[in-house]
Amino acid sequence: MNIAILASGNGSNFEAIVKAAKRGYIKAFIKVLITDKSNAYVRQRAKRNKIKDILIDPSKFKSRLEFDEEVIKVLEKEKIDLVVLAGFMRILSAKFVKRFKNRILNIHPALLPAFKGENAIRRALQHNCKVTGVTVHFVDEKVDNGPIILQQAIEIKRGETLERLEERIHNLEHKLYPLAVKLFTERRIKIKNRNVEIEPL
Ligand code: GRF
Repeated sequence: MNIAILASGNGSNFEAIVKAAKRGYIKAFIKVLITDKSNAYVRQRAKRNKIKDILIDPSKFKSRLEFDEEVIKVLEKEKIDLVVLAGFMRILSAKFVKRFKNRILNIHPALLPAFKGENAIRRALQHNCKVTGVTVHFVDEKVDNGPIILQQAIEIKRGETLERLEERIHNLEHKLYPLAVKLFTERRIKIKNRNVEIEPL
C-alpha cells in the first residue's frame, strides 16, 4: 500500500507515522509528503527521513478546487492508496473527498464531535472539561465530521497548564495515529455509513 501524508506545520504526527513504518509496525510505503506551506517544519522532517516532499503552493491556483485537482493529480501519479492528513490546514473539496472516499484519514486533538475546528485543546481546557482526548476519523465533506475510527480519552488534571495538556495530547496522537494507519493498511477497518468496525490486532 502506498501512503501520502498531507501536512502544513510541525509534522510530529508525520514523523510518528514515518518512524512506525520504518520499524515495520506499519507495513506500507510512505511515498510522499505533500505540503501547502513552503516554510513548514514538516519538510525538514521529510528530508531527514528521505521521504519525497512535494510543495503545492495555493497562491498558484485560482480556486480551492483547482488546488485540490493538482493534489489529486499528484496522488494519482504516485499511485496512492491512503491519504493521511496530519495537521493539513485546508478543507478538502467534495471532489477530493469523493475521489478518495473512505481512504482519507484525519486526526483531531479532542473527542469529536466536541471542539471541532482550531484550538481544540485550548478550548477544552478553557471549558473546564474533565476529560478530553484524541480522535482519528475518516474525512468527509464537512470539517472534523467523518466516521470515527479510534478515540481515546485523557483526564484533564486539576490546574493543568495548556502546555502540559498539549504535550500529553500529542503523545497520545503519536500512538493512536500510527495504530489507525496500521489497522487500515491491514484492512482491519470496515466501514458502513457512519459505522466503523475494527477487527482487533
Ligand atoms: C495535531 O494536534 C493534530 O491533531 C491536528 O493538528 C496537529 C498537527 O500537529 N490536526 P503536527 O504537525 O503533527 O505536530
